[in-house]
Amino acid sequence: MDVMILNGPNLNRLGRREPEIYGSESYADLVAACTLQAAQLGLVIEVRQTQSEGELITWLHEAADTGVDVILNPAALTHYSLAVRDACAMITGTLVEVHLSNIAAREEFRHTSVTAAHANGVIAGFGFDSYRLALQAIAARRG
Ligand code: DQA
Repeated sequence: MDVMILNGPNLNRLGRREPEIYGSESYADLVAACTLQAAQLGLVIEVRQTQSEGELITWLHEAADTGVDVILNPAALTHYSLAVRDACAMITGTLVEVHLSNIAAREEFRHTSVTAAHANGVIAGFGFDSYRLALQAIAARRG
């Protein structure tokens, strides 16, 4: 595996969840879009989603131990989870934080990302393209 794509709480509800913000495509569609983009870039990916902060942290530990690159959408955990932030600090590969929506243009509590400081970069506001762009950034860095 080259890249772990990790998704936090509620992202499994894509398509049914506030479609005016997150779009009408489903989580399965997101996985398919990432799988296609990764194949085009020659990257082997694994896409995971959890409602659990602890499980997400365990996956970040796994990424730290194996040295894989990570694309992370921590969802609401972005805004308050210092435990996820500390796990992000352990990542040795490239870490790209992604958001479907532009968190800077939404409610004030979403303007803060406690995790972003440990990412190499953040891509937000482009829907599924946020993930495609993150894969392209990782492919470019891997050379
Ligand atoms: C999100 C933005 C977060 O504020 C929100 O809690 C999410 C999704 C996004 O991808 O736009 O669950 O991370």
